Amino acid sequence: MKNFIIFVTVVIGLVLIINSCRHDETDISKYDEICFNPDIKLIFASNCAITDCHNTTTAESGFVLDNYDGIMKGISAGDPLNSEIYKVITNEWINMMPPDNPLTEEQRIKIRLWIEQDAPNNTCSNDTIIPPPVDSICFNTHIEPILLSTCGVTDCHDATTAQEGIVLTSYANLMAVRQGIVPFSPSESKIYEVITQTSSDDRMPPSPRSPLTASQIDDFNKWISQGAVNSQCSAAACDTSNVTYAGSVDPIISTNCRSCHNTNNANAGIILVTETDVTTVAASGQLIAVLRNTSGIKMPPTFDLTECQIRTVEIWTNSISKAN
Ligand code: HEC
Repeated sequence: MKNFIIFVTVVIGLVLIINSCRHDETDISKYDEICFNPDIKLIFASNCAITDCHNTTTAESGFVLDNYDGIMKGISAGDPLNSEIYKVITNEWINMMPPDNPLTEEQRIKIRLWIEQDAPNNTCSNDTIIPPPVDSICFNTHIEPILLSTCGVTDCHDATTAQEGIVLTSYANLMAVRQGIVPFSPSESKIYEVITQTSSDDRMPPSPRSPLTASQIDDFNKWISQGAVNSQCSAAACDTSNVTYAGSVDPIISTNCRSCHNTNNANAGIILVTETDVTTVAASGQLIAVLRNTSGIKMPPTFDLTECQIRTVEIWTNSISKAN
């Protein structure tokens, strides 16, 4: 009987473990073919097959990683998550490889894609590049503004406060958070986990600050699912032909201002939640004054809106003062 109970417990445990390891699907058809020669081989040659590690002389743990067959001993083609090598280059908790000197995110993405593409011993003439996926969420236009207006702020994760030792003001320090962002896998990313918590005790930003909006959370989800690369998109051409509050102004205020100016966290007593709130501040002249920095107080405090965003708010502000 006792053995039977142990057996059942182990089976249940295994089922739980297997389910918890499920990954979000990566649509690899969006990416170019990744090539073993020279790309993947080069990553292994310069990071793993080196003296005292996995070259022919040392062969740490029996792994020689300067050739295709040697590398394939730690790869399960088509299945990165069951590939010993992929596990050690991404697992930051146990025996991370290379020790104390993780591969760059781009290198890890390339290895993962190559394994997903069945780990062929293929050769390409040019170095493959990973183009941003179609419908991409760009770091600079979607994610960075959220970091700068909501996470990397005073009393939270700016460089001075660095709550829990975490600074969230740039791509580099975001990616440096342990397991914070796991490329391709929102469900394994600690940062995604805390922004999606429903209990306000565990959630980030913590109460009384407002949670991220559904669309901001969705942007994080897509961006991580697309590989969490430091993608830089040029801002769309500035179209100010049809400026409305809901379509043009609200998204700007929501992403860049609302985290510090809502009913729970009203810096300087300024609330920018509803159209009425924003209209009041706009009509007083304060809105354009802080955006243009003409009164000695510049908003947002730690970064700049684009000229197009300021211009959009300005056109709307002019239209409401004419209407009144
Ligand atoms: C990181 C938090 C934060 C963000 C993001 C932020 N603000 Fe502020 N805001 C503040 C603080 C703090 C003050 C008080 C500053 C002071 O008195 O020096 C303030 C003050 C203001 C004021 C009052 C200025 C005055 O003359 O007294 C306005 C208006 C304002 N913010 C608008 C905005 C707008 C518009 C945005 C977005 C474009 C924005 N804020 C983004 C923190 C923030």
